[in-house]
Amino acid sequence: MALLKIARMGHPVLVQRALEVPDPGLPEIRRLVDDMIETMLDAPGIGLAAPQVHVPLRLFVFHIPEERGGGALTPRVVINPVIEKIDDEQVLRWEGCLSIPGLRAAVPRMVRVRYTGVDCDGAPVSVEADGLHANVVQHEYDHLDGILYPMRVTDFRLFGFNEELAKFPPQPVEAAG
Ligand code: NI
Repeated sequence: MALLKIARMGHPVLVQRALEVPDPGLPEIRRLVDDMIETMLDAPGIGLAAPQVHVPLRLFVFHIPEERGGGALTPRVVINPVIEKIDDEQVLRWEGCLSIPGLRAAVPRMVRVRYTGVDCDGAPVSVEADGLHANVVQHEYDHLDGILYPMRVTDFRLFGFNEELAKFPPQPVEAAG
């Protein structure tokens, strides 16, 4: 296993559409996934998409630590993911990104999504998610289409450096509709 270098905003790999993984069962893919999980946990972060480690393929890893509440999830991968909306309810969620260190913003996201894909054994993944789980898969999926969260910001007053936002907490974020 190895720690991978994380691409930062400005690198072209982060703004291109990543390609389907032709054979999710290859040992090279499993090694990449293992290294991405190690890199995510070391950072630390709760999600990491392959383009963020300079690999333009459609897969991401994520986990939800116990301390974030709402049901912990162990680290896992989704290869060739597809996300569908379940209904139209959206909410503003605070997000950061390992490719944009030190900053965060409130971004409109679907409250609930269904996502499908496969894992490293080629086994199907099909999950209905809400809360932080839904949030992280939408953020990571965006990376596969070359979308970074600042591109989704609708109110730039809710975008800043973590240290300043901690000193001057913005007003509570209302549901976006
Ligand atoms: Ni990110």
